[in-house]
Amino acid sequence: MVDYVPGLAGVPATKSKISSLDGEKGILAYRGYQIADLAEKSTFEETAYLLLNGNLPNSNQLADFEDHLKANRRVKYNVRKIMRDLPATGHPMEMLQTSIAAMGMFYAGDECLTGGDLCEDIHYVQNMSVKILSRMATLVAMWENIRHGYDAVQPRDDLSYAANLLYMLNGREPDEYVTRIMDACLILHAEHTINASTFAALVTSSTLASPYLVMAAAVGTLAGPLHGGANQRVVEMLKEIDGPQNVKAWVDKKLANKEVIWGMGHREYKVKDPRATYLQTMMEDWVKTKGHLSKMFETALEVERVCEDKLAAKGVFPNVDFYSGILYTEMGIPADQFTPLFAVSRCAGWLAHWKEQLTDNRIFRPTQVYTGEELRGYTPMSSR
Ligand code: COA
Repeated sequence: MVDYVPGLAGVPATKSKISSLDGEKGILAYRGYQIADLAEKSTFEETAYLLLNGNLPNSNQLADFEDHLKANRRVKYNVRKIMRDLPATGHPMEMLQTSIAAMGMFYAGDECLTGGDLCEDIHYVQNMSVKILSRMATLVAMWENIRHGYDAVQPRDDLSYAANLLYMLNGREPDEYVTRIMDACLILHAEHTINASTFAALVTSSTLASPYLVMAAAVGTLAGPLHGGANQRVVEMLKEIDGPQNVKAWVDKKLANKEVIWGMGHREYKVKDPRATYLQTMMEDWVKTKGHLSKMFETALEVERVCEDKLAAKGVFPNVDFYSGILYTEMGIPADQFTPLFAVSRCAGWLAHWKEQLTDNRIFRPTQVYTGEELRGYTPMSSR
């Protein structure tokens, strides 16, 4: 009998070629390429292609992939109709889970996986991956207008993935600098080995459920504050602290109450998450470029400094969610859309894992350590 490990910490759940991380050295790589190189030199489209296909695309492959993505940006009117009927006060992650699952009813057709044979239909897998990756951004961006009672901004096919996402969110074309930042954010969030949402995606994939349902399971899992939902909590926390001068007392109180500091700590990293380092650098550049100080950023830097004194010994440092929301806030994106943006990007990784799971599938069916009653006789109602 294998020992029970809470949270499956350190237990391999699969074999994978998609990404790797070194939690002691703070290295994350997609298909062998370090994320700083990808964030600096590639685009989200190139990175998504890399994750899905194993290698960086040449210029023809990239052009085909980009065209295919652009051709699949629009969603059917009836999907938008469902979105319009959702309560505007609901969390956008719940909208996203509902809408991506609903899309399966509109787009799956005959192509639904029904057994082992279709797992080898590479055309089906590639086609579905592009359709979903493209439309995830559309759903998130459309919701921003729909929930405020406006018509959704229709996607444009002359813009990159990042620029179109910002255009649909804000209703105006972003400049090159802001587009580049969004592109880098999408790259940095695209994949991260077997985290909770990717594990949920693997489990659902292993039952041969449709890729829309795989995405719905992953979106629901990402939403929690211990996972992707932390980026929204970080910004709410920084607003509550309200300035660097209040940080020490605030952190002391939280730790004394045994509460977590949002955006800190990670199961795999024992040093600062390399994505947090990159996002921090981008925020520093933003402050220089825009020429104004961000109180939220100053507060975050002080939280990191104070926490280093108190939590470094436990290997707790900023994770990917610590600085991302500050950048998004500067870009005018509402806090409850941070986790949906994470989902848009991570969808590339989830789809790569869906494909990998299908190529060598065995249904997930772990066991348990039973801690309940021994077998016993039925107790009649009169004796209870
Ligand atoms: N604030 C304060 N203490 C923290 C902490 C945080 N954010 N994260 C971990 N710790 C402490 C724990 O209290 C524990 O201390 P103890 O050994 O004295 O009990 C120790 O560090 C180990 O943490 P543990 O909860 O066992 O780690 P985990 O691997 O189970 O959990 C997270 C990982 C990410 C869930 C956890 O770090 C956390 O809740 N972070 C905040 C939420 C967050 O930012 N999530 C996004 C992750 S990308």
